[in-house]
Amino acid sequence: MSDRSDSSARPPAIGDEAPDFALPDPRRADAERLRDLRGVPVVLAFCPEPDDGPCARAHEEIAAGLPEGREVCVLSLSSDAHGEIAARYGVDGDWAVFVIDERGRIARRHGAGEAAPAPAAAGCTRREFIAATVGAALAVALARAAARAEPLARLSGGPADGPAGAPSPIPVKLDVNGRELALDLDPRVTLLDALRDHAGITGPKKGCDHGQCGACTVHVDGRRVLSCLTFAAMQQGRRITTVEGLAAGDALHPVQRAFIEHDGFQCGYCTSGQIMSAAAMLDEPWGPTDDDVREAMSGNICRCGAYPGIVAAIQQVRAARSAER
Ligand code: FES
Ligand code: FES
Repeated sequence: MSDRSDSSARPPAIGDEAPDFALPDPRRADAERLRDLRGVPVVLAFCPEPDDGPCARAHEEIAAGLPEGREVCVLSLSSDAHGEIAARYGVDGDWAVFVIDERGRIARRHGAGEAAPAPAAAGCTRREFIAATVGAALAVALARAAARAEPLARLSGGPADGPAGAPSPIPVKLDVNGRELALDLDPRVTLLDALRDHAGITGPKKGCDHGQCGACTVHVDGRRVLSCLTFAAMQQGRRITTVEGLAAGDALHPVQRAFIEHDGFQCGYCTSGQIMSAAAMLDEPWGPTDDDVREAMSGNICRCGAYPGIVAAIQQVRAARSAER
C-alpha cells in the first residue's frame, strides 16, 4: 500500500493500491498501519459525524452482505477528523466507502450520488465483524484484525495470492487423535486454527492466541505444545493429541478423573488446556511438591481461580503413580 502524502496526486481508482495510513495504537508506543492488515479484506468508510446518513447505511449494507465464513475488518473513520487520510483517498468533504481486498488494492468504491451498493457483489465472506469507531477503537480493531489474518476472501474476483498477497493453500496432513486429516491450509494457519476452524476439533480453546494462557495446549509426540504458537504445516508427520483423544474409549484419563473429583474447574474454558498440560507435566522431571506443580503449570491460566483443585488433582495422580511403582 502506498503512503501518499501528496494530496495533489490523482485519487486512487479501482485496482489501485490503497493509500496507507497509520493510526496510534493505545496499547503500544508506535502506530498501526493499514498495510498491517494485508491478508484481511477491509471495508473502510469515511463518514461525516454524526454517522447516521447514507454513508452509515452504505457501510452497513456492504458489511451485512458479507456472508459468514471469513474474517473481514470493518473500519469507520470520520471524514472530518481524518481529513488528511480522506484526501489521500480522494474523499473531499463528502463520504465514501471503500472495499480493499486482501492484497491491499481497492476493489470497490461507493460514494455520494452513486447507486446503493449491491452487498453480495463483494463476493467475500466474513467470519467476524469487527466494528470500529474513530480514533483509539479503530486502532485496536486494526491490531486485532492484523493479528488474526487467515485465508482470505476474494473481494475482487482475482486470485487469492500474488506477490504481495496471501499465499495459496497447501495440502497439509495431520495425525490427530490417531486419525489422519487431509486439509488445504494457508501455510500461516496455526495448529489451533487448523484444529478448531478446519477440522472441527474444538477441545483446544483459543484464550489469548498469543502463547500466554495455555488454553490451547495439545500434545505433539507426547509433549505439551501451545497450538496457537505453531503452524499446522510444521506438525505434519507428528502425533497430535487433543483432549478429545486423551481418554481410552469410555475410560477417562486419570488426570481427567482427578479433575472431576477435585473440582479442578469452574467455567471450564481453561480446563482442556489444564488437563493436557497436567497429563504431560507428570512425565516431565518436576519435583514432587505443590510448589513444583504450580511452577510446572504456571503457563496455564485459570481466570476462575480453580488452582487448588487443579493442584490437588495433579498430586492425586502423581501419588497414585508413585504407589504403583
Ligand atoms: Fe494459546 Fe492462549 S490461546 S496460549
Ligand atoms: Fe474457568 Fe479455568 S475454570 S477459566
